[in-house]
Amino acid sequence: MKLNTALLLLLAPPALSDRVDDYIDQLSLEEKIKYLGGNGMGNYPDDGEYVGTVLATDHAGIPALLYNDGPQGFRDDARPGTSTALPSGLNVAATWSTEAATLWGDVLGAEFFDKGSNVMLGPGMNVARVPRNGRNFEYMSGEDPSLGAGLVPSVIKASQSHKILANAKHFVNNNQETNRGEMSSQVDERTRFEMYYPPFQAAIDAGVGSFMCSYNKINHVYSCENPETLVDDLKGAMGFEGYVMSDWGATHSASLLQGLDQEMADADFMNFDNLKDAPVDAIDASVRRILKPFVDVGAFDLTDDEQAARSIYNNVTSDEHFEAARSISVESHVMLKNTDSVLPLGRDFFTGENTVAVIGSQGDDNCIGGGGSGRVDAAWKPTPLATLKATAEDAAYGADSDKIKYLDDDSSLEDQIELASNSDLCLFFLQTSSGEGSDRDNLNLNADGKVAEVASHCAKSVAVVSAPGAVLMPWADSVDSVLLNFMPGVASAFATVDILVGDEEPTGRLPITMPLIENQEGMTLEQFPGVDGNMNSTYTETWGFGYRYYHLHQEEPRFWFGAGLGYSSFEVTKISWGDSNVKVSIKNTGDVDSTAVPQLYLGAPSGCDLPLWALKGFDKLLVKAGESANVEFALDEKDVSKWDVDARDWAMCGGEWSARVGFSAQLVDDETIATKTI
Ligand SMILES: *[C@@H]1O[C@H](CO)[C@@H](O)[C@H](O)[C@H]1NC(C)=O
Ligand SMILES: *[C@@H]1O[C@H](CO)[C@@H](O)[C@H](O)[C@H]1NC(C)=O
Repeated sequence: MKLNTALLLLLAPPALSDRVDDYIDQLSLEEKIKYLGGNGMGNYPDDGEYVGTVLATDHAGIPALLYNDGPQGFRDDARPGTSTALPSGLNVAATWSTEAATLWGDVLGAEFFDKGSNVMLGPGMNVARVPRNGRNFEYMSGEDPSLGAGLVPSVIKASQSHKILANAKHFVNNNQETNRGEMSSQVDERTRFEMYYPPFQAAIDAGVGSFMCSYNKINHVYSCENPETLVDDLKGAMGFEGYVMSDWGATHSASLLQGLDQEMADADFMNFDNLKDAPVDAIDASVRRILKPFVDVGAFDLTDDEQAARSIYNNVTSDEHFEAARSISVESHVMLKNTDSVLPLGRDFFTGENTVAVIGSQGDDNCIGGGGSGRVDAAWKPTPLATLKATAEDAAYGADSDKIKYLDDDSSLEDQIELASNSDLCLFFLQTSSGEGSDRDNLNLNADGKVAEVASHCAKSVAVVSAPGAVLMPWADSVDSVLLNFMPGVASAFATVDILVGDEEPTGRLPITMPLIENQEGMTLEQFPGVDGNMNSTYTETWGFGYRYYHLHQEEPRFWFGAGLGYSSFEVTKISWGDSNVKVSIKNTGDVDSTAVPQLYLGAPSGCDLPLWALKGFDKLLVKAGESANVEFALDEKDVSKWDVDARDWAMCGGEWSARVGFSAQLVDDETIATKTI
């Protein structure tokens, strides 16, 4: 039989690019331009109130594009409790775990899909530059580009496997909220590529469909009309093939030729009047950038059943997602000290005769997430106080118990001391929060003032701290143990108690440095928040922020980046360079099984002008008591390179490179350092 190849070609499903071309062929100029700007917030007919919309083009078979916040769960202000208030992006950074990042992305993707949205406005991945940034909690890079780059791909792949697009934001150098709509981040190309772009590059390499440009200017040009960062860097050197949308209201002109593909939330500038005479090739290119990622992830190929089942009115949270929030919260609790092994207390401690003082409003009215567009309201959440009472009675949640007594932040010092003196354990619950639109005024918690004095009257004391970023904890020397859980999500009270009783080991590690004092890095007014009146924040520190600052200036923070304790101790017993990796053996030197988070830091030859030590890899693994495990950290050329501005590419920096593997960024006397000449 003779094959009819022409017929076979007709029957074969069209290749993806053909399909996008086919869409574009069917669109009039006006319809194409419709994709370059949004149709407003909260007004999509029929389908509810997504925060951004582009209407469907029915005759071409293109469904509506429905965008929603945000980075710690599906934000649904009108229906609180119908989506899961997950731990924040900074919590994901604190897990140092690609598995936790995958779980987080998986729950997010599933909930966005079931809520009928096809673009998730997250994850946020800016590298934290200033400790007071009000949005640091949203970002999953902490203060290190390699930490972000190591975790971002898991979130992008897991979320986009649910036939929605993820969105890499906020590109770029939106590292403060103070004056964010006007200020300019003055940052050179090398610093951008080496310190701020790597998590975004990792998102691109993982196939992220969309990017969001930010409110600020970069080198005096608004982010969303900045050809240097959008065209030369993002779409040029970094190879991004998806589309760039503006942050809501961050567009200042019809910036199609400057690299913006889509203005959100309304088409104030990117509209037919302004763009009808723009080059058709440029319009087609942007429409292709917008539509192709939806085709690639399968967002335009839903079955009728799938389509019918999705709706913003759905309650998409579930027991399973609550448990996911709980486990990510457990993994992002960072134990910062544990004098005399006060933790774990053991379940018996609570079920016996012991009395417990719960001090601090966070114990009974717990903040679980940051504010602003990234907030997710829970209809119900367990509180630490009620969870502890149930634990003390060995009963279900809601049980009461006289053994647990509570005082809020406003209670007097005398009352707190009296309760502390008459209790077998003090549990301090402390918090501060932050949100979009402003930076924190200081790094205090809401009720730091009395902790040190009250703790001196406690038989044992543990402070549980919830914070959206760095906090000073001036009382840290006065308590036996500190657990920091960032913006910990709906299930965090259960997670905290899981850890207190010893059902779980705290396995989080700091994704940001905890300083001893305000502005320990000594940033000038020109660096942050910018020169008064003229709004420039100059990045003169280049790579010298976060732990890299402390190394450079030989200063001690309160707690180092990467730090965090479990219930055992580890030692690096062997370290060596391979051709394209560093290999170590780590030994659990304690008598319990425990999770280790080994971290590879590379030290560059001195002529390179690179950080003294920079994180280049990490792992998280359970090691049995007394046993050793081998860990390999893969390296590529970029890891021993700097950004060459003239070549606009990475260039290896030759000389003697050093490798240390540790359990934080803190340098340890006599540790073994392996060197290699490259
Ligand atoms: C949504 O579903 C969860 C899990 O089934 C349930 O616990 C919760 O009460 C529901 N939320 C609302 C607002 O009905
Ligand atoms: C800040 O930026 C403006 C331009 O927007 C420039 O004229 C001014 O000199 C800059 N100021 C400083 C202190 O760099």
